[in-house]
Amino acid sequence: MVLAVDFMGLHLKNPLIVAAGPWSGSSRHIKEAFKAGAGAVVTETIVSEPCFDVNPRLAYDGAGLQNIRRYSNKSFEDWLRELEQIKNENGVVIASVLSQSPSEIGYLAEKVEKAGADALELGLSCPMGEGVEVIAANPNRVYSLTKAVVEKVKIPVMVKLSQNMTNIGQVGRFVQEAGGSGISAIDTVRCILGVDLQKRKPFLPTYGGYSGPPIKPMGLAAAASLAQSTSLPVCGVGGISSCEDVLEYLMLGATTVQIGTSLVLHGMKHMTKISEDLERWMEKNRIENLSEITGIALKELRSFDNIKVEPKMVSVDGPCHRAECSACTDCCGIYEAISKAEEQIRVDPEKCKGCGLCCYVCPDHKFSLVRR
Ligand SMILES: Cc1cc2nc3c(=O)[nH]c(=O)nc-3n(C[C@H](O)[C@H](O)[C@H](O)COP(=O)(O)O)c2cc1C
Repeated sequence: MVLAVDFMGLHLKNPLIVAAGPWSGSSRHIKEAFKAGAGAVVTETIVSEPCFDVNPRLAYDGAGLQNIRRYSNKSFEDWLRELEQIKNENGVVIASVLSQSPSEIGYLAEKVEKAGADALELGLSCPMGEGVEVIAANPNRVYSLTKAVVEKVKIPVMVKLSQNMTNIGQVGRFVQEAGGSGISAIDTVRCILGVDLQKRKPFLPTYGGYSGPPIKPMGLAAAASLAQSTSLPVCGVGGISSCEDVLEYLMLGATTVQIGTSLVLHGMKHMTKISEDLERWMEKNRIENLSEITGIALKELRSFDNIKVEPKMVSVDGPCHRAECSACTDCCGIYEAISKAEEQIRVDPEKCKGCGLCCYVCPDHKFSLVRR
């Protein structure tokens, strides 16, 4: 059984990469990630002017995280020393760098390559502060920053894109034309987590980036769009907290994935759990090599105009023993096709439009769609 993957010409022992963030903000954290089983680590974003920390900078709604920390707060010189310290570790180090100027980003890239980075990620998509996410949404600027770096280094260059734009596939094509080796997506999603009604102010004092499980659907869509619009290898990021999440990204065309928030919430040991679960899943499903499943679900992902129209309705599997539950009848309020009397559920075939919602809301999964 082979968990190892080739990604942008690099050999990774598995497809699991630690995403850029404070959990990858020093050589100590990066070594810890390798020990926990990560195939590679992306450093927290390295900039020429380190950012200052604000307090508080994290807020959590029980599902996702808002953060307002932009980049690393370590100086560029300190980062070069940190990279020197880990260049002989048994793991792939991807240095995340950012500048809004092509000449400066080229300079940063050259220096971190010399310090021992195995690859680069251009962190062009941070949704905080002014300017950066505007770069990611502008294909010409993505092109010029990518090209400036590609011309300066020999190591692979991956570009990190954002969901905070309208046509990620088009931007991906500009990365490819500029000579990029791979694309990662997505960064956090611009957000305001909520408003404290008593204090009459937002939880955090500025717009932030949303991450964790609630952004997975956006991350999956971005990874799939990029896999469909470019021939570059894609690294899927956003909301991964289990082996099943990893598999969804791989099946939609990602070769590797990055994990961030779930490592903050559950500790670096969570990386070990995900990699062990992935191995067990492969064994159980007799998958010898991850390439057997990479992109397999993309074949079933059509453009809207190419969806096959097949008249369907729901069928119910047996009686319902949840006396208090009305999830199915409530969610069918638009069509009034489902009724429940005692334990019997009835679907009116004349009224059922086959929308499929009841299949998801029933806690016992008693509904399924069948051909009319
Ligand atoms: C606290 C925090 C700090 C982050 N810092 C960076 C960063 O320095 N550079 C970057 O490219 N992405 C950064 N990210 C974004 C993550 O790398 C990742 O793209 C995003 O969180 C989505 O993945 P997740 O849901 O697994 O966390 C940060 C995210 C968080 C939560």
